[in-house]
Amino acid sequence: MIPGPAKIHIQRVSKAFAVDGRQAPALVDIELEVAEREFLCILGPSGCGKSTLLNIVAGFVQPTGGTVLVDGQPIAGPGADRGVVFQEYVLFPWLTVAGNVEFGLALKGVPSAERRRTVTRYLDLVGLGGHAAKFPVQLSGGMKQRVAIARALANSPAIILMDEPFGALDAQTREVLQDELSRIQRVEHKTIVFVTHSIREAVYLADRVVVMTSAPGRIKQVFPIKLPEIRDRFAPDFTQYESEITRVVKEEVAKVHE
Ligand SMILES: Nc1ncnc2c1ncn2[C@@H]1O[C@H](COP(=O)(O)OP(=O)(O)OP(=O)(O)O)[C@@H](O)[C@H]1O
Ligand SMILES: [Mg+2]
Repeated sequence: MIPGPAKIHIQRVSKAFAVDGRQAPALVDIELEVAEREFLCILGPSGCGKSTLLNIVAGFVQPTGGTVLVDGQPIAGPGADRGVVFQEYVLFPWLTVAGNVEFGLALKGVPSAERRRTVTRYLDLVGLGGHAAKFPVQLSGGMKQRVAIARALANSPAIILMDEPFGALDAQTREVLQDELSRIQRVEHKTIVFVTHSIREAVYLADRVVVMTSAPGRIKQVFPIKLPEIRDRFAPDFTQYESEITRVVKEEVAKVHE
């Protein structure tokens, strides 16, 4: 059961890729509903199809079978209702921090005074208020990823899709960004689908954690995380979830190496 009306309905989605003239299955019959305002994390062995699934929800990749519904309507390609943040820092190097955040708004023809207000609001929200005039080359990895989050939020999508957004960061920066994302979600109430390899990160952020099987990806198990909104990584019930989910993920990772 999900805690409210479905914002996203991944309806029996399958995907096969043509490899050496044959169709190789990557995803099989993925059935998943994501509730409005839910934070859903997806875990699974490398190559199980997590990025493929996220790309299908984003509208970048067409499924071989099944449909993705947003608010009950089938998606037709990428849309402004779904923002994406990926692992690699995809900022425009020739634009400032403010320019990067403003980019989508300018495309949409938002008037400049309103653009400036929005940029200021989201740069403040991600803790980069003092860095608006810098260029990406002047930023650390964590700062670049904050800009990517501010840019996604500035376009006010109802849904944010994140593919290992903190995967390239050191452990300390990663926890700081997790804290920030958790705080931002308490203000912004987006519907978030977040792919990660870190079980700890998933338990820290998610309302529900989905574990996928080894390739071809199916849904193995779904864990509702019944922890307080503001979480303590060292609390006994937190580590209990961590070890329970680790056991299930390990079963699948072991299959990859059989
Ligand atoms: N464009 C493509 N053409 C052919 N095969 C592809 C394509 N994209 C993905 N695949 C294959 O589909 C499978 C799933 O890939 P995907 O990148 O979704 O996995 P993943 O779970 O995100 O892995 P990781 O955890 O390493 O990021 C893999 O076997 C991959 O080789
Ligand atoms: Mg991936």
